[in-house]
Amino acid sequence: METTHTHEMQLLVNSVHAKYQSLSEGEVATYIPELSKANPDDFGVCLATSDGRVFAAGDCDRPFTIQSISKPFTFGMAIDELGQEKVLQYVGVEPSGDAFNSIELQGGNNRPFNPMVNAGAITVAALLQAQHGKHAVSHLLDRFSTFAGRPLTIDQAVYESERRTGHRNRAIVHLLMNFGIVHDDAEAALDLYFQQCSILITTRDLALMAATLSNMGIHPVTGKPAMNLPSVKDVLSVMFTCGMYDYSGQWAYRVGVPAKSGVAGGVMAVVNRQLGIATYSPRLDRFGNSRRGVEVCADLASQLGLHVFDCLNVGSGFLNTML
Ligand code: DON
Repeated sequence: METTHTHEMQLLVNSVHAKYQSLSEGEVATYIPELSKANPDDFGVCLATSDGRVFAAGDCDRPFTIQSISKPFTFGMAIDELGQEKVLQYVGVEPSGDAFNSIELQGGNNRPFNPMVNAGAITVAALLQAQHGKHAVSHLLDRFSTFAGRPLTIDQAVYESERRTGHRNRAIVHLLMNFGIVHDDAEAALDLYFQQCSILITTRDLALMAATLSNMGIHPVTGKPAMNLPSVKDVLSVMFTCGMYDYSGQWAYRVGVPAKSGVAGGVMAVVNRQLGIATYSPRLDRFGNSRRGVEVCADLASQLGLHVFDCLNVGSGFLNTML
């Protein structure tokens, strides 16, 4: 007689992991030399509910660098610490429709389009650097660790690799300085940006970070507050419109939840008041989004009715049916 019962959600996570295991399209990022060492076959899918239940399949404990998925967190931190009004003086909330590393600013005020493209994220890093000075990195790590629910560290090899080769980001920070968006120390702001991108996480960490956003800024397992509620709203709004770069419109249409990707292969999606979804698979599509990650999220959103405009999306209703 069968005595153990596998949770319905675990079966679903196992099934999407198995379904996309053979999807081998896409290329591992090589423009940061250290990232090219990733194993292209690594694949993790993890779902964490807003009340702290975790369902994982595949390589969910393999560390990788957070890269651009750090951007929504630093944006929220800046709003928490400096206020929305001040932050929006320096960075907009408009999708650019262009690649993550595009060198362009908004006409009229010279602000970067939004905090999810590099120019915007570097501007946010400059604000945090000016605020925290020599404590900026440790402060950032502390706040990211609260989101993950465990102490996080920086991958020194990736950080140094990016610092050595990040000429385009260096050009962006100097352009920002030329327009008076970045003031003090351009190199220090850039350095903070490179360090934030090099924070090591696992797919499991990322699902819990997403679940913390879904749980109004409170970590669902530790119960610690990680971000103020108004900042969470701002973060999710910008993720919804700008989180997947020049694929953001298609993502909103197809998947319909706020999300963020990173070039190391992570994707994080947030279903407000319900759950966090994280995937890790280093092969990227032409937009710089994880190829498998996009498909897994679209599939989960369709199977669970997660799209924000799906008529079946009834708040946390579906979770209550699977206690
Ligand atoms: O600025 C960079 O090049 C990286 N540190 C972060 C870029 C990133 O993850 C863009 N993602 N798709």
